[in-house]
Amino acid sequence: MSKKKIIQASKGTYDILPQDQTYWDKIRKVAQDTAADFGFLRIDTPLIEEQELFARGIGLGTDIVEKEMYSFSTKGRDKVALRPELTAGVARAFIEHGLFSLSQPLKLWSVGPIFRYEQPQAGRYRQSHQIDFEVFGSADAVLDAQIIQVAFWFLKKIGLKEVVLHINSIGCKDCRGLYRKALLDYYRRNTKKICPDCKVRLKKNPLRVLDCKNEKCQDVISQAPVMVDYLCDGCKEHFKETLDYLDELEISYYLDSHLVRGLDYYNRNVFEFFLPQQEDKKSLALGGGGRYDGLIKLLGGKETPAVGLALGVERIIGEMKKRGVKVSGRAAPEVFLLQLGNLAKRKGLKLYEELLRNKISVAESFSRDSIKAQLKLADKLQAKIALIFGQQEALDDTTIIREMDSGVQEIVPLSKVIKELKKRL
Ligand code: HAM
Repeated sequence: MSKKKIIQASKGTYDILPQDQTYWDKIRKVAQDTAADFGFLRIDTPLIEEQELFARGIGLGTDIVEKEMYSFSTKGRDKVALRPELTAGVARAFIEHGLFSLSQPLKLWSVGPIFRYEQPQAGRYRQSHQIDFEVFGSADAVLDAQIIQVAFWFLKKIGLKEVVLHINSIGCKDCRGLYRKALLDYYRRNTKKICPDCKVRLKKNPLRVLDCKNEKCQDVISQAPVMVDYLCDGCKEHFKETLDYLDELEISYYLDSHLVRGLDYYNRNVFEFFLPQQEDKKSLALGGGGRYDGLIKLLGGKETPAVGLALGVERIIGEMKKRGVKVSGRAAPEVFLLQLGNLAKRKGLKLYEELLRNKISVAESFSRDSIKAQLKLADKLQAKIALIFGQQEALDDTTIIREMDSGVQEIVPLSKVIKELKKRL
């Protein structure tokens, strides 16, 4: 007989097994606390959106939309895509539900999966998860600084303290035009020294040549004109103000003139967060974001300046593990309920519920019949008290309370067991 093929998780996706859930619990809890600390309201948007939303929002010429998006037509011929990020969906919801009528700036946050058809490797998945913070309705640089503060706050609470901020300004549509021209002129003079990919980028999305990783291009990149020299007065002032606020917050930053980001909706400040790595290791961003003052209008809403960022959960958990960040697992149960015999097993199920109703944390192993095996488990789980409920006790409506440390035992009537346990715990 032929052996059935074992089906595995689809390439670039993975299961979050029970032993990893403690990391996720911690991340969710810290994200929720951080959001509350800084006044963000939760929003959840669908995993599926119209393709057009991402094409318009993130940009048709971007790698994300062009190469990495899971796009398909439904049976009803709707052209949809699995979301490759959260910002576009949140912006759509902001417009669709008239959230601009709420008091501005409006701070929204979300957490959930994103999908990108990328070549899987450490820290790069086809289904990954982001924690997303967005602020709508203010162009004030103080919010650029605050959103960065939020990321640092979150990462510190998670246990990642040495985060380095890379920041740049990519200007607005006016000054970026001048810069693009200067960059193109410079690259035209150097076409022989660049890789074939960059030749394509120059035609489609010139700024992206700056974050080319090909060895061949590094010399050209290092001598390229830098955006900050071309910023208009407004963008320059905005950038300077942001840096002043960061100084005030004692957040150190690296002025990264090559940081351009892979999404078209950005203007002015863009930033990414890294952790220092061992020398031979390339660093992957833990998160990134920036200002996107034109997106809401581009999607059909009113002119609404905005700024936001997203943190990558898998990369954060990867670093927590690498750096030995401790996360507390499930707390030890106060009581372990041991049973022996059919009647005790039946009555035990109900007794278990009564303990829970009285807010006593309890564990059990109803499928084990040996008292010895159950005691061993109670010990392993570090329960303080074992409640022994055997055939005789079930008949007499009593139970034995055993202190796990000392081994001292006492028989108590079932009617008094809760009171007795509460006294001892
Ligand atoms: P992004 O830089 O494309 O920005 O993604 C943010 C973070 O998500 C990355 O820094 C990384 O940690 C994580 N990430 C992205 N793709 C993957 C992947 N394939 N595998 C593992 N982790 C990944 C955005 O998505 C913007 N929407 C951020 C933003 C919000 N800008 C304004 N508001």
